[in-house]
Amino acid sequence: MTDASTPTRTNPAEFAKARQTPEKKSFMFVIEHLDPELADWSALEYRTIAKECRETKNQFTLCSGLQDFVVKAGGLSLGDVVGKGVEELFPPEERRVCLLDPQAKKELSPEDGDVFDGFLFGGILGDDPPRDRTSELRQKGYEGRRLGPVQMTTDTAVRVTRMVVQDKILLEEIPYVDFPELKLDEHESTEMPFRYVKGEDGGPVMPDGMIELIRKDADKGFDDFLQS
Ligand SMILES: C[S@@+](CC[C@H](N)C(=O)[O-])C[C@H]1O[C@@H](n2cnc3c(N)ncnc32)[C@H](O)[C@@H]1O
Repeated sequence: MTDASTPTRTNPAEFAKARQTPEKKSFMFVIEHLDPELADWSALEYRTIAKECRETKNQFTLCSGLQDFVVKAGGLSLGDVVGKGVEELFPPEERRVCLLDPQAKKELSPEDGDVFDGFLFGGILGDDPPRDRTSELRQKGYEGRRLGPVQMTTDTAVRVTRMVVQDKILLEEIPYVDFPELKLDEHESTEMPFRYVKGEDGGPVMPDGMIELIRKDADKGFDDFLQS
């Protein structure tokens, strides 16, 4: 049962209005999980997005037909994951939800925060070169906005969108780190083919545990190579 003061998940306009403060509007950040599996990387990104949404008074919703599996495998809370497709929850024709789309003609601007109540992202692992899998969501008819020409990780795309629409920072004024070089051990490093927000230490903002996961995957790749 929901009381009258609980904003409903299915109505982004109502949610945004109910959570609005005089200073900042609240938004829904919606991810449609598009990969057939749930990679450890994606789970870490989704947990980080959920945490940052809570800290900034925004609503996080992960849409996946594999609800129970994603909750368990991802270490997510049941309330964050819905077992429905995004168009069922947020019909494109209502035009309240905007798709963050690397191929969109218009860049995201702070004014988009006045127009839209929710922002939709592809739950897809980044690939290099990008294969335009966001097209699966574009085809549903959502209006799109771009976050500049460089591919971001999904958690970075959510972070940047929030900074633009909620904190009203222009896209071009956000400090970024492009293609950072991560040290794996004394001898090896790897270049990440993505754009990140620059943190206070000058390095890329990444989910806690991501660097360890990248190191583990690099070790595994090397072991697989030795066994092949
Ligand atoms: C890791 S990206 C995957 C993009 C994927 N390689 C593709 O080609 O569509 C995951 C999601 O972050 C968002 N995203 C990442 N970079 C973006 C950009 N520069 N502009 C708009 N959205 C972006 C999109 O919603 C995208 O579906």
